[in-house]
Amino acid sequence: MRHITFANGDKMPMLGLGTWKSAPGEVYQAILWALEAGYRHIDCAAVYQNEKEVGEAFNKAFSDGLVKREDLFVTSKLWNNAHEEHLVESGLDKTLSDLQLDYVDLYLIHWPVSLKSDVMFPKGGEDYLTYEQAPLSGTWKAMEKLKEAGKARHIGVSNFNISKLQEVMASAVVRPEMNQIELHPYLPQEKLVTFCKEHEIALTAYSPLGSSDRPKARRRDDDPVLLEAAVIQEIAKKHQVTAAQVLIAWAIHRDIAVIPKSVSKDRIIQNLAAKDVTLDSEDLKKIAAIGHQFRFIDGSFFTEVPGSPYAQSDLWEES
Ligand code: A2P
Repeated sequence: MRHITFANGDKMPMLGLGTWKSAPGEVYQAILWALEAGYRHIDCAAVYQNEKEVGEAFNKAFSDGLVKREDLFVTSKLWNNAHEEHLVESGLDKTLSDLQLDYVDLYLIHWPVSLKSDVMFPKGGEDYLTYEQAPLSGTWKAMEKLKEAGKARHIGVSNFNISKLQEVMASAVVRPEMNQIELHPYLPQEKLVTFCKEHEIALTAYSPLGSSDRPKARRRDDDPVLLEAAVIQEIAKKHQVTAAQVLIAWAIHRDIAVIPKSVSKDRIIQNLAAKDVTLDSEDLKKIAAIGHQFRFIDGSFFTEVPGSPYAQSDLWEES
């Protein structure tokens, strides 16, 4: 398994298990299957509302001797309603309690969008905090403290564009070590990837398979289905692998960590085997030729709520 190596030498396995959309009741078993199969990187978040079950699976795996804590890389994310500087630590404390851990390997600011502390998802303008009320620099300062305290071994962000990264970096003591963003052949985000690499910000690709199980509210009937893309299917056929494996291998080829979600034992195993799939230069050329096609998670659930102080330009530079 290839790794991302942080400045202090800590290593993050490039292929991890995603848990967004894994329902409580499914995620416990999915984590245990993944750990049995050999996954050592699990991606979580408070807003997925399943961290308690994930924690129960970790506890079971540790007590059965399936894996040791120090051999597991766990990521979690601060939800938008705990961005105020004095709330950040309590956000992580809740996650640590749910995950039954005393530290996470990586903690990320989930979105550059702030909500009032009693709001999970915004319904109107009154549910938000503006950048003036909850500056990202303050949230980041509190993240740095979590790293200093050892509760989060590494810290970073998610869904940050170049200008938001620059804003945080301008006042940061510890620069963001990771940016987790939507990345796949329909959304290669070359400019943002290049910027992150130039600034030694590692990348994780979410929705690498096109998240066709995303909530109905975030889906239209005519949205493209990434796993059915002709180019990807053709490359899969050529190598006698699956389309999902081609997509996962493509992220790893770009030196980008990747977190395909699955709650099916077969697909969990299949996805891990993608670490051994090699794409040749002809495949890469064909995938590059697809170009920007589609963003599955467009953030409109934050920007298009009536009265929202946030615009698409706060999220994405590329359309
Ligand atoms: P399931 O959980 O039933 O396996 P993403 O990681 O981009 O969010 O995509 C997750 C979606 O892709 C889920 O619907 C998941 O279903 C499905 N999926 C995961 N692995 C595979 C695979 N190897 N082949 C086809 N679909 C997959």
